[in-house]
Amino acid sequence: MSAALIDGKAFAATLRAKVAGYAATFEQSAGRKAGLAVVLVGDDPASQVYVRSKGKATTECGMAGFEHKLPDDTAEDVLLVLIARLNADPAVDGILVQLPLPPHINEQKVIAAIDPDKDVDGFNVVNVGRLATGLHGFVPCTPLGCLMLLKDRLGDLSGLDVVVIGRSNIVGKPMAQLLLKESCTVTIAHSRTKDLPEVVRRADIVVAAVGRPEMVKGSWLKPGATVIDVGINRLPPVEGENRGRLVGDVDFASAAEVAGAITPVPGGVGPMTIAVLLRNTLVAAHRNARVALAKDAL
Ligand code: GUN
Repeated sequence: MSAALIDGKAFAATLRAKVAGYAATFEQSAGRKAGLAVVLVGDDPASQVYVRSKGKATTECGMAGFEHKLPDDTAEDVLLVLIARLNADPAVDGILVQLPLPPHINEQKVIAAIDPDKDVDGFNVVNVGRLATGLHGFVPCTPLGCLMLLKDRLGDLSGLDVVVIGRSNIVGKPMAQLLLKESCTVTIAHSRTKDLPEVVRRADIVVAAVGRPEMVKGSWLKPGATVIDVGINRLPPVEGENRGRLVGDVDFASAAEVAGAITPVPGGVGPMTIAVLLRNTLVAAHRNARVALAKDAL
C-alpha cells in the first residue's frame, strides 16, 4: 500500500473535543445547555444503533439530548405535532428525525415541518436552497465531514477535478454543491453514467457514495488521487466469521496501491457524521440564543 491513510476517527475526536469546549462556554453565556432532539419512529435495528450513538455523543460533549422514540405505527399527524412542539421549545436547538421513516409517513412532509433554523441535518428545502445559492444555512453532516477531511489533507481545493459517485439528497448532491463552492470542477456520476472507470480516471478527488460494496477499483484511479469512501456495507460472513466484514464502496486493497490518500472503512468518513452533527447543533444554539461564535471556530 502506498496511499496515506486519512484518519477520520482522529479528526472527528479532535472536532468533538473542540465542540465540547465551546459547548461549556455556551452554557456559561446562555445559562442553559445547547440541546439536540432526536426522533426515531419504529424499531429498525440500524437506526436504533445510530440514534443511541447520537444521544451518547451529545451528552458526552456537554449538550442536552432529548430522545423521542415512537412506535412503528405512529400516524403522520402525531409526528408532525411532536415536531411543532420541538420547533417551539427554547431548550431544543437542533432537531433530527432519523431516516428512513416507515412507508406510511411522507418523509418530505416531515422534513419540511422542521424549523429550518433547527434543521441540523440540513435536509429541509430551505437549507438545500441556501447551500445552492451560497447563503448561510445547515449543511448535511456527512458531506460537510468529507469536505473537512479534504481541506485538512489538500488545503485549497480550487481548480481540482472531482468526481462524486452517487446523487442522493443526503450525500451526493450536497457534496457536489460544497465542492462547487470550493471552485472545484465537479462531475456527478451515478448508475446510468457511461464508462464510469474512464470518468473516475480524470479525477483528482473521488467521493464514492453509491452503497455498492467495493465497486470502485484501483485501476479506475488517476495515480495520486485522493479517495473519500462514504460507503458502509457489510459483506455476507465467510466461513469462520460471525458477522461479515464492513467494507466501503471502494476496493480498498487495490485503491490504496494507486491513490495518494484514502479514507479507510471503518474509521474514515463514518465518525465524521456524528462529530459534524454536534458541530451543527452548537452553531444552531449560538444562533438561537444570539450568543456570538467566532466565524471559523468550528
Ligand atoms: N439516516 C441515515 N443517515 C442519516 C442522517 O444523516 N440523518 C438522518 N436524519 N437520518 C439518516
